[in-house]
Amino acid sequence: MAKKVAVVTGSAKGLGSAITLALAQEGFTVVVHYLKSRQDAELVLGQVTKKSPESILVSGDIRDERAVDKIFAEIFKKFSKVDLLVNNVGNFIYKRFSKTTIDEFKDIVESNVYSTFFCSRAVLPAMRKRKFGHIINIGTVGVDSLTVREKSTPYFMAKNALYFVTKAMAWEEAKNGIHINMISPASLETDIFKAGDFPMGRSASYGDVIKVLKFLISEKANYINGANIEVAGGFIPGLV
Ligand SMILES: NC(=O)c1ccc[n+]([C@@H]2O[C@H](COP(=O)([O-])OP(=O)(O)OC[C@H]3O[C@@H](n4cnc5c(N)ncnc54)[C@H](OP(=O)(O)O)[C@@H]3O)[C@@H](O)[C@H]2O)c1
Repeated sequence: MAKKVAVVTGSAKGLGSAITLALAQEGFTVVVHYLKSRQDAELVLGQVTKKSPESILVSGDIRDERAVDKIFAEIFKKFSKVDLLVNNVGNFIYKRFSKTTIDEFKDIVESNVYSTFFCSRAVLPAMRKRKFGHIINIGTVGVDSLTVREKSTPYFMAKNALYFVTKAMAWEEAKNGIHINMISPASLETDIFKAGDFPMGRSASYGDVIKVLKFLISEKANYINGANIEVAGGFIPGLV
């Protein structure tokens, strides 16, 4: 049987690279995607091809629909299917709203919301035909509540939007055998907070997120669709 194919956006570094490596360990053929970090992406590909020799590298700015279409044309030409799409790209900002430029504002909204919309639309027709597929959107802790957060308004606006997109897409696609869920981590290992800032005395690890992702794509989670799972150890943004 052909190996399952996973696409992880923004997988040259950070959480995306960790997910990619974990999926290769699980037997997936993976598509490593990058925008600027070619060297890092090549290193990730070098590691994943040890487990999954068919894995490939793709590049492009996924805020742009034409770039997304080109990327997925390449992927479908090579594999003719995508079993799992992880919409991992989603830029962050920490700045007063009044100091945020229009380019920064657009980047946050487009890298989080447009990228997810474009990449999901690119895989859904093939998933519908096969009556199978998983899409995992990466959110952030607190995404399910409409609360103003200090200096990160565009980011939370965008992640809140993704939360609605996740639920609406799952509602539309569940009948087609497609699962669409969201994982919302607290501040990850690379971030600016100290361990003591978190109720459990540590930030979320990539491994914490990966365990939930593996569960969501397993048969055990068959009836979980349109869900948002926080991987936050009890952390609530704004409460210290
Ligand atoms: N880090 C955290 O503490 C944290 C907490 C909660 C949620 N999250 C969410 O978790 C996800 C991953 O976070 P992360 O910190 O690991 O990611 P990251 O390092 O900030 O970004 C991952 C990659 O996204 C790519 N990227 C950015 N804009 C792009 C674009 N327009 N087109 C294509 N690729 C683009 C970059 O690729 P290149 O380097 O190749 O340019 C970058 O390496 C994000 O959705 C984030 O919002 C993160």
